[in-house]
Amino acid sequence: MKINLAVLPGDGIGPEIVTQALNVVKAICSKYNHTLSYESALVGAAAIDAYGNPYPDSTHKLCMDSDAVLFGAIGSPRYDNDPGAKIRPEQGLLAMRKKLGLYANIRPVAVFPQLIHRSPLRRDLVENADFICIRELTGGIYFGQPQGRSEDGNTAYDTCVYTKPEIERIVRLAYQYAQKRKKHLTVVDKANVLSTSRLWRQVSQELEKEYPDVKTEYMFVDNAAMQIIQYPKQFDVIVTENMFGDILTDEASVITGSLGMLPSASVGIHTSVFEPIHGSYPQAAGKDIANPLATILSAALMFEYSFGLKTEAENIRQVVDKSLQVGIVTEDIASDGKSRKTSEVGNWIVKTINNI
Ligand code: IPM
Ligand code: MG
Repeated sequence: MKINLAVLPGDGIGPEIVTQALNVVKAICSKYNHTLSYESALVGAAAIDAYGNPYPDSTHKLCMDSDAVLFGAIGSPRYDNDPGAKIRPEQGLLAMRKKLGLYANIRPVAVFPQLIHRSPLRRDLVENADFICIRELTGGIYFGQPQGRSEDGNTAYDTCVYTKPEIERIVRLAYQYAQKRKKHLTVVDKANVLSTSRLWRQVSQELEKEYPDVKTEYMFVDNAAMQIIQYPKQFDVIVTENMFGDILTDEASVITGSLGMLPSASVGIHTSVFEPIHGSYPQAAGKDIANPLATILSAALMFEYSFGLKTEAENIRQVVDKSLQVGIVTEDIASDGKSRKTSEVGNWIVKTINNI
């Protein structure tokens, strides 16, 4: 198969982890005889520095012309404590999501048995927890207008907007995932307070009838935040709006033992984007210490979702599992004090892919 990728390393540790993931992609492509081509482009603070725009048109065109996007991370401390900054790196990520029509962010939350001891939750609560969060990504309060400040600067406002078609397409997608899994969908909203949530609930209840094989449950977001730590095994597929999803997926990720392990896929109208769920971790940039596994596992999701190549994806997951078993891991998850560098972990994974 021909595989043509856009590679967007972004900021902070992005370039280091993406380099490792790309090496893994190269190894898999040569092992399974796929023809790989790729081109890199700037996004985030790196793109502001070079072009004054966190998502330049040239980067967008490259993404549109590619089969999939491998993405690192965005964000820089240079902007974080400057509320007056006119251009922010995160705007690049939002522009990319909007322009590529990436309305669904899919975050599988699976527990790695080797890392359970690192979970903030008791072993019996997290063991075998396995669910998927599907977060709406191009609507809601992140994009609703008006957004801004009053003239005197003393009042600020954001607007949460959802239309029926926006809700319908994401909830349908969530039902399709549930049908392929344990047939249990939890729709998370705040319908007791927000009118957008009441529309979510109405649309979901209408769709529920079309998927009688799936058990649908409705949960308020505050309760969901509690249930995720109290009894995570109850979940199979969670679907929710943009900001609730942002918050719940960070929460869900840590119960697995490490934020450095979880991949994500953003899919929708144009090219899909695959990225780790963690951020740009600027303190570690350039030190060769960041955990590359979430990005490598994002590449596995890419083979599976964008190209239907399940064996290739499974091969990557197997080798990542093996690296955990034998302890070839970075310092964030090393347990015996013997940690490896980012590049050492990547090289070991490439070597192991070639040998099995
Ligand atoms: C995420 C991040 C982004 C978001 C930020 C960096 C804009 O937290 O992908 O979850 O809020 O969506
Ligand atoms: Mg987030």
